[in-house]
Amino acid sequence: MAQIPQETIDHIRDTANIVDVVSDVVELKKRGGNFFGLCPFHHEKTGSFSVAPAKQIYHCFGCGAGGNAITFLMEYEKITFPEAVQNLGQRYGIQVDFSHDEQSKNDYTKLYEIHEIATNLYQDNLFSPRGKKALAYLTKRGFSEDILKQFKVGLAIDTWDQLSKHANAESLKSDFILKTGLFARTEKGTFDRFRSRIMVPIFNPTGKVIAFGGRVFDNEDPAKYLNSPETPLYKKSDIFYGAHATRDAIRKASFAIVVEGYFDFLQLYQAGFRNVVAISGTALTEKHVQNLRKLVSKTVLFYDGDQAGGNAAVRAGFLLLKGGVEPKVTTPPLGKDPDDWILEAGREVVESAIKKSQSFLGFHFAFYQIQKLDGVDKSDYVKNLIREIMEINDGIIRDELLRTVGQKLQIGDKDLEKYMRQTQRRSSYTRQEPDVKIKKVFSFTTVEQRAQLELIKLLASDDPDHRQLVKMHVQAEDFTDTLLKKLATRLMSKAMVIDHSALIEDFKDKDERDAITEILIQEEIHGIPEEIVIDCINIIKSRPIKEKIESLRLSIREKEANGANVENEIIEVIRLQKTLNEHSK
Ligand code: UTP
Ligand code: MN
Repeated sequence: MAQIPQETIDHIRDTANIVDVVSDVVELKKRGGNFFGLCPFHHEKTGSFSVAPAKQIYHCFGCGAGGNAITFLMEYEKITFPEAVQNLGQRYGIQVDFSHDEQSKNDYTKLYEIHEIATNLYQDNLFSPRGKKALAYLTKRGFSEDILKQFKVGLAIDTWDQLSKHANAESLKSDFILKTGLFARTEKGTFDRFRSRIMVPIFNPTGKVIAFGGRVFDNEDPAKYLNSPETPLYKKSDIFYGAHATRDAIRKASFAIVVEGYFDFLQLYQAGFRNVVAISGTALTEKHVQNLRKLVSKTVLFYDGDQAGGNAAVRAGFLLLKGGVEPKVTTPPLGKDPDDWILEAGREVVESAIKKSQSFLGFHFAFYQIQKLDGVDKSDYVKNLIREIMEINDGIIRDELLRTVGQKLQIGDKDLEKYMRQTQRRSSYTRQEPDVKIKKVFSFTTVEQRAQLELIKLLASDDPDHRQLVKMHVQAEDFTDTLLKKLATRLMSKAMVIDHSALIEDFKDKDERDAITEILIQEEIHGIPEEIVIDCINIIKSRPIKEKIESLRLSIREKEANGANVENEIIEVIRLQKTLNEHSK
């Protein structure tokens, strides 16, 4: 394993700010001294993820995940400890001397690496004589070199092995290489998957390349786009293309413009629209909606101006409504997509169209040309529409939409209710998913464990008097729970100031770390410290005495049954009872 000097780790941990690090991927809101947001480690609709800036730790009250800035990166990016340290070092400008050693790298690291190699190679192609034609094509489509470089657009040339030659020979032979999605294997060997394509790298939220969208170029291939398959890094139903660059702008604008294509995104971005994301190689999914919901509650769907774009916008719109995000719709002129339209009509036209975007129902009515519907067609349309609306969980939004439908389509209240009743029966699958509660490995529930926890809280307190008080009366050996004993030992050995964030790293096991963080993030001490200490000591110390009494009673009963003398045992029990009474005074 590669080694980083402990001082460097400490320096980086002290410099890093967990609020910054977490804010990259979670929208945090301040409440009291702490920040709260939606947990990135489990699916939830209410924020139970908390970050304590004073202690530089985080803890999710829902799933129990917890740790410091370094472990956050490890778990979010699925990277190793040294990699997370290095990552933070880069961010905060701290040099990390860290020798790479092939064997210690995990698959994730290798996946990121091969994507980086590919990205660089494809970019070199585009900006070298080999890429002259492709670059001319992209320039003609209005893309500046700046934007192509910023988003690392490149070119896969028409060969079978250009990337293969750049990959590590060892990994090329192993099955790992197939996990990258960048190669294909036949009995003749391993080949580049992307050939003769303009390569659009897809980034994860922290800006690392995790996949590619390849647009056909100078080739007869009937598939216009070839995208990376799903890999351990890339879940297409999860990723918004461009979000790494536009997340802050989206928050600022309070709404996101959602487009269908990579080039739509790039064209809008280049024209100065910064609150944009694109879906990549899939329709909008529930997961996308959840991700959006973490940033904003409003969107503008800016899909292609054809039948397919309209259909996709209808589906996306209902999904957004069900997920609690308001969808508005802007439609380019017939047959255009946002990319063509902005080139042709200019930024101002598009900007004002986005400002004037339609309500979702307005778009729906227009798209299905309701003024032309009558008879069975109209009744089918209404039934389908109402069925979709009835699946929206938010009663206020649902009722408002139903009211609009009633008014616009001139349906009387009675008929509307009849439609609703008909659809209600059919839509029993609309239950909201409950927030997942993940079972915790460590839980401290017995009276003794809870008493030990109280003492630990005092030991971890910022008030040195609290810690001194416990140290005067309790020893680490008094802690009977193994994990709590370990923590107590660490806390007692610490000098005057407790570094919660550093302490966590003494616990290498994730379950242990989660449990420790949960304890450390708790603030309040309920009661007077002196009394807490006495009560807890009594509980802890009376436990072994009670056990002793219990076992003596058993042996007394056995001995009596055999007619043996039990006098000594009885004396001992009486003595123990006395001590016990003293403890509980
Ligand atoms: P479009 O067909 O609208 O392409 O697909 P485009 O983005 O306008 O491309 P240009 O302008 O002709 O160069 C929109 C998106 O749908 C996905 C891609 O993510 C693409 O950006 N798509 C499309 C595929 O995944 N596979 C395909 O075969 C086509
Ligand atoms: Mn296009």
